[in-house]
Amino acid sequence: MRTPIARIAGIGAAAPVEVVTNADLERTLDTSDEWIVERTGIRERRRLPADRALSDLFVEASRTALERAGLPFTAIDTIACGTVTPDRRLPSTACEVQAKLGGGTAAAFDISAACPGWLYTLTIAEGLIASGASQRVLALGGDRLSSITNFADRNTAVLFGDGAGAAVLVPATDERGILATSVGADGSLADLLYIPEGGSTQPPTEAGVRDSLYTIRMAGREVFKVAVRRMAQACHQALGKAGVRAEDIDLLVPHQANIRIIQATADMAGVPLDKVMINIDRYGNTSSGSIPLALAQAEQEGRLKPGMIVLLVTFGAGFTWGAVVIRW
Ligand code: ACO
Repeated sequence: MRTPIARIAGIGAAAPVEVVTNADLERTLDTSDEWIVERTGIRERRRLPADRALSDLFVEASRTALERAGLPFTAIDTIACGTVTPDRRLPSTACEVQAKLGGGTAAAFDISAACPGWLYTLTIAEGLIASGASQRVLALGGDRLSSITNFADRNTAVLFGDGAGAAVLVPATDERGILATSVGADGSLADLLYIPEGGSTQPPTEAGVRDSLYTIRMAGREVFKVAVRRMAQACHQALGKAGVRAEDIDLLVPHQANIRIIQATADMAGVPLDKVMINIDRYGNTSSGSIPLALAQAEQEGRLKPGMIVLLVTFGAGFTWGAVVIRW
């Protein structure tokens, strides 16, 4: 097994208090609790109220992660944030979080990789520690998907929620830490999952607001098929790099996009369902927040113990994907 370079010293997560149930959605959409549960596994999701920012969730998650790591915020030299729903287009949300946590001069930047944003962030954080450029990285992942969801579109409105997580990465000192990462992308499939306008080629207009051009469009069935194939490949690549066999995995923490995708991925990765962390029923798809939310919950519930082999795997718009193997 590979010797780790960096390890997660502490993890935290945060979700809004406001719960939106399937019954709530039934009131405004041509959908049903039965359809949503059967086709997606989702029962409820969380939504940030207008007076709170995504960076507030990151601050809450970061405080927990720092406390668990036993480090003050002043020890952090880099803040990397995986998100596609920044508080504002300028500056980065990492900078907003830095200011809210007390300021300082740590490097701060965002990473745009959709749902895999947090696994991309972990991969970059590990590289920064490996090169010696950073010693202690605050690796954030989270999204406020409710800000880019068309609540009149039943194909997407039932799926998405808000949530965020944070991890403190430090140099590894023993066999515990990140054993391997494998991230990839296929930009040729971008038009299966995208936001039509609002970027620099099609800046916002009144007509765009009227026609919901600033919200997610998704070809769900096509995304589903590619997601299963790419997540299975990512698992095999990361396990191969780490020198870990499928039977050695103690916990699989997949992106929580659809219960059927989770089941198919576990099957293709050769991991039995009792070793899979599932909380999609409570949060829906929180994009980059999905895996840290699930990991933090697993740790809280005592399902994640020091020394365990953990496989993280994810997929999202781009298309982007990734898998990370950790000895916890
Ligand atoms: N309620 C009731 N019926 C619905 C709903 C709904 N909420 N949504 C769709 N339907 C209908 C469709 O209109 C369709 O009806 P029709 O047969 O009369 O045309 C029927 O249900 C079947 O639609 P499908 O799209 O084929 O349904 P499917 O079983 O594929 O489930 C879903 C749709 C849940 C979106 C699934 O395809 C999926 O999970 N895809 C992957 C999504 C994903 O993983 N995204 C990841 C990244 S997200 C990101 O990066 C931000």
